[in-house]
Amino acid sequence: MNSSADLEQLSPPPPPHHHHHHRQHRTKLVALAQKTFNNGPWAYIILLIFTFVLGYLSHSQPLLSQGTSDMIEHNSFPSQCSDPVPSNRVRQTIIDRVFNGTSPWESFPPAHVSPFLLKEWNKGWGSNNPVGTFLGASATHMAGLTRRLGLESQIICIDDFRGWPGYSDEEKSSKMVNGDTMLLYQFMQNVVNANATESIVFLPYSTSTALVNGLCEWGVYGDLVEIDAAHDFHSAWIDINNAYKVLKKPGGVMFGHDYAWVGVRKAVHSFARLNGFRVKLDGEHWVLY
Ligand SMILES: C[S@@+](CC[C@H](N)C(=O)[O-])C[C@H]1O[C@@H](n2cnc3c(N)ncnc32)[C@H](O)[C@@H]1O
Repeated sequence: MNSSADLEQLSPPPPPHHHHHHRQHRTKLVALAQKTFNNGPWAYIILLIFTFVLGYLSHSQPLLSQGTSDMIEHNSFPSQCSDPVPSNRVRQTIIDRVFNGTSPWESFPPAHVSPFLLKEWNKGWGSNNPVGTFLGASATHMAGLTRRLGLESQIICIDDFRGWPGYSDEEKSSKMVNGDTMLLYQFMQNVVNANATESIVFLPYSTSTALVNGLCEWGVYGDLVEIDAAHDFHSAWIDINNAYKVLKKPGGVMFGHDYAWVGVRKAVHSFARLNGFRVKLDGEHWVLY
């Protein structure tokens, strides 16, 4: 058995600025390990149990005993969404399921929020989107466009309305109240200002929850789906795959923003390659066709 001095020699030195703290922590861990092994029979029992569990798992779980082919399944987003609700039921379905049947704009804004809302604070990046909404600039822009074109449409916005770490420092005009960036209320205020409460509805959840446990499960599909939430590869990859399930087929179009982000680009091209799409670019936008 190794002594604590031997064990310490085997490990690389910790970074200098945490040296003292790490050293203390490691000494405690080494002492704990020694105690465990010095306890004779207990060590054997623990080891025996561990060996038994490993043996059982490798026998019964291909995950530990086979190659990686079965892992592909973890990447297949297989679930089938429900039969589509008629388009004239989409808005009410969301209001029923998310807001217990009462429009969220009823009695808006609540008294405790009014003092913090800004009459003029909207900002967008030139995208029109349901998946990743922020202050609603693009959603309200889209509402205006569809109104002008005489289209009866519902714009479904998905956002957890948390923004991203540090965003409220960047955006000098935002208020933070007890750690809440008030993004949801400001988004709602902007929709009121744009006179678009009847054509915009929202799901204030994480994108995966809203797409999979929400829209997919309820049979709510979109003709046009834009992806513009988090831009790291894994987030973009999951959003694109989940959103594709609720895109109307045939005929629906999926597109997104921030193609310049490496993670987004990688996710878009992987998805296109796996699903037989081509990617068309329009400035910062990508479109699958
Ligand atoms: C780049 S902004 C969207 C900007 C918007 N398209 C526009 O032009 O105004 C990204 C938004 O995605 C939201 N977001 C990021 N990750 C999310 C997640 N996992 N679930 C829900 N919303 C998310 C953030 O709260 C933020 O409002």
